[in-house]
Amino acid sequence: MLIDLRPTNRLRGKQPIDTRAVLGPVLDALAGTDLDLGTVRVVCDWVQYRANFRTPIDLRTILGDERHGSGDRLEIALDLRQAAAIGPAQCRSLADAVLARHRDTPDAATADLYLEPWGPTSQSCLWGFNALYWRALELWEKATGRLYEQALPGGESDARNVAAAREMITDLFAVWDALAARNALPEELYVVELGVGNGHQAKVWLDEFRALDHARGGGYYHRLHYLLCDYSPHVLEMARTTVNDHSGHVSAVVLDATRPGVALAFLNFKVFLVYVSNVYDNLPSDEVARIGGSAYVVQSRAYLPAATAAELTGALGVSADGLARLIAQLLKLGPELMAEVAPDVFGGPDDVMHFWQAVWNGLRLAERYAPLHGLDPYEVAPGVSGEALRPLLESGEDIRMHVSNGAVASFADTLRLLHPYGTLVAHDLFVTDVDAYRRLYRGPGKYEGSVVNWVNGPLLTAIGRRNGFDVTYQPFRHRSGTNIVTLTARARD
Ligand SMILES: C[S@@+](CC[C@H](N)C(=O)[O-])C[C@H]1O[C@@H](n2cnc3c(N)ncnc32)[C@H](O)[C@@H]1O
Repeated sequence: MLIDLRPTNRLRGKQPIDTRAVLGPVLDALAGTDLDLGTVRVVCDWVQYRANFRTPIDLRTILGDERHGSGDRLEIALDLRQAAAIGPAQCRSLADAVLARHRDTPDAATADLYLEPWGPTSQSCLWGFNALYWRALELWEKATGRLYEQALPGGESDARNVAAAREMITDLFAVWDALAARNALPEELYVVELGVGNGHQAKVWLDEFRALDHARGGGYYHRLHYLLCDYSPHVLEMARTTVNDHSGHVSAVVLDATRPGVALAFLNFKVFLVYVSNVYDNLPSDEVARIGGSAYVVQSRAYLPAATAAELTGALGVSADGLARLIAQLLKLGPELMAEVAPDVFGGPDDVMHFWQAVWNGLRLAERYAPLHGLDPYEVAPGVSGEALRPLLESGEDIRMHVSNGAVASFADTLRLLHPYGTLVAHDLFVTDVDAYRRLYRGPGKYEGSVVNWVNGPLLTAIGRRNGFDVTYQPFRHRSGTNIVTLTARARD
C-alpha cells in the first residue's frame, strides 16, 4: 500500500497537524476490510480552500485497463484540514462508512444525489454554476452582501494596482515610439481585456494611460481602442459604466474567453496588448495523472451528499429526482426566470437565491481515474493534442496536474490576435514548476459562487514556444506576499 503524504508546511511549525490522528483511523478502517491492500493508495492533501468540493475522506476508483488485464484499484483521498477538524473518532467512522458504501450499494434513502454522469472535469455542471455566478452576479452579491473581489487573493484584484498598470503602459509606449520612429505604427491602437469583472482594473489602466500620455504631450490616447470582453452581459455592462469617463475609446464585446478569435478575428495581428487578470484560473480544466507509470484522466461527477439532498427535498417538498430537475433548470434559466416558472416551489427570486447558495455550498465532486489509451487522442484544446502533456507527466514521480484546457485554448487563440510587437500580459495563479503539483493542492476551490484552479504554466510555455512566442513568469512585483504571478508572452525575435 502506498501512502502519499503531500509535503505541506502544515506538517510542521507551531501547530502541526497530528497526521497520526487522522491517518491512523483510516489505516485501521482499511485493516478491517478484506480489500487487497496492495491495490490501495492513500493520498493526503491539505486543501487550502475553506470552500471546496471535497469531503474529509473521499474514495476514488482507479479503473483497470482491460487491454493489460489489470483490475480496478482504489485511492483514499484525505483532506488533512477537514479530517483534523473532525478528529480521530469521526475519521474512523467516516472511513468505515466510505468503505462500506464502496462495498455495498447504498439504498435510495441514504444515497448521495448525483447530478450528472461521469465525464472529464471540464465538462462537469460545475462550470454551469460558475457561468451562472457571473451571469447573475448582481443577485448573488446582493444576497450575500459580499463583492466578488473580496474572494480574490488579497481581497481585491491586483489588476487595480496603479504601479503595475503604469509599468505595462510605459512598456507599450516604448514599443509604439520605436514603431512611430520608423513610420510603422498603425493609426488605430488596439488593447483587449478578457474577463473584465467590475471594470475597476480597466479604469485604473485607462486613467493612467490618459495621464501618462498627457504628460508626454498626448499622441496616443485619441488613437486608443480599448475592448472590454466578457461572456457575462451583466458584468460587461457594469464594467462599461465604471469606465464611462473613457466612453469614446471603449467598446464592450460579449465573447467566450476560451475562443476570443471568434468575435475578434477582424483584429488578427493588430492588437498591441491583451490583458487578462484572474480569468485563466476561472476557465474549465481537466486533470490528468500518472499513477504507477500509467496515464489517466480524472473523471468527475457532481453530487449532493445524502444529508444535504434530504434537507433540500424536505424543505422544498420535492422528490430527489425533482430536486435534480430544479438544479438543472436553475442553471439554464437563472434565479429570476426560475422563480417565475416554479411559483409552487419558490416564493420569489430571494427563495431561489437561498436554494442556489444551499446547493452550491453542498456541491461535491466524486472522482475516478480513467486510463488514457495513448495521449494523442486526448484533446487539450482545439489543435493541441495530449502529446503536449507527455514531458510534464513523465517529468519524475507520479503526478496529478491540471490541464487548464480553457486557459490553453484562450492563450493559443489570443496569440493570433497579437501584432508582431504585441504582448499578452496575464496576472493569475500560475504553477510555474511542474513539481509544484506534487507538493500542494492546486484546486478546484470555491471563490464565492465561482471555481478556482491554478493554471499549468509549463504547458502554456510549451504552447507559446510552439507558436513562436517566448513566455516568462514573474511573481507579481507590486504587492508582497501574493501568490499572483504575471505571465508575459511576446513573439520571439
Ligand atoms: C475573477 S473575475 C476577474 C475580473 C477582473 N479581471 C479582475 O481581475 O478583477 C473573472 C472574470 O472572467 C469572466 N469570465 C469567466 N469565464 C469566462 C469565459 N469563458 N469567457 C469570458 N469571460 C469569462 C467573468 O465573467 C469575470 O468577469
